[in-house]
Amino acid sequence: MSKRTKLIAAFDTNSRSQAEEWSVTLGKTVDAIKLGLEFTYACGLDAVRAVSTGHQLFLDLKLHDIPNTVASGLSALAPLRPALTTIHACGGAEMISRSREALEKAFPDEVHRPRLLAVTVLTSMDDAGLRETGVNATPQEQVLRLGKLAISAGADGLVCSAHEIALLRDALGDKPVLVVPGIRPAGSASNDQKRIMTPTQAAQAGADWIVVGRPITRAPNPALAAQEIMAELASA
Ligand code: C5P
Repeated sequence: MSKRTKLIAAFDTNSRSQAEEWSVTLGKTVDAIKLGLEFTYACGLDAVRAVSTGHQLFLDLKLHDIPNTVASGLSALAPLRPALTTIHACGGAEMISRSREALEKAFPDEVHRPRLLAVTVLTSMDDAGLRETGVNATPQEQVLRLGKLAISAGADGLVCSAHEIALLRDALGDKPVLVVPGIRPAGSASNDQKRIMTPTQAAQAGADWIVVGRPITRAPNPALAAQEIMAELASA
């Protein structure tokens, strides 16, 4: 059997006390917690450290700037010891390889080095949105192009939609770490996510990690909702 797909609970909030509460009630059940732009900008890096202590952290700040600035930014974030962290693939090969070098320098021990994930095309972008930015390719073509670029430049993996897993596995093999948001347990509200898959479907398609926010954090009993997804992944 292949490795179990792991669960990241997205703590999308601007409230430190809310995130601290989830950290206590959910942190031991899920495999990792995600803190992103909203929480980090609202509450600061000390709060990120407090909420993530004792848990694996997916620090999703989607960095994109000139190579030197992104590499320095990652070095500055290293003390938070994220398990996974993100940059934008469209920053280019040099930005990606310098990011990888910065993480290798900060973590000479490969086992503890944060895994560098590249974001390819935001799921909010469609054909027209890409054209507006001068990209004359479909989102799928662009995902593939940027996915190949990112992995060959040193990213460990990609953030992708569940519907892109097969395409990326086909082109890049089993090694890249695929982290997949847009997941909804059967029967739960889709919210604003349009192209969703269940945890079982994403696991069977080859996701290494799934990211689930509202179906856990807005459930009447978040701990129970997380336990149910963990059980689903265990039997996928
Ligand atoms: O509440 P929900 O399960 O939709 O949250 C999904 C999480 O994954 C959010 O933190 C969101 O920022 C993130 N995400 C996403 N789609 C992407 C990339 C990240 O929903 N393409």
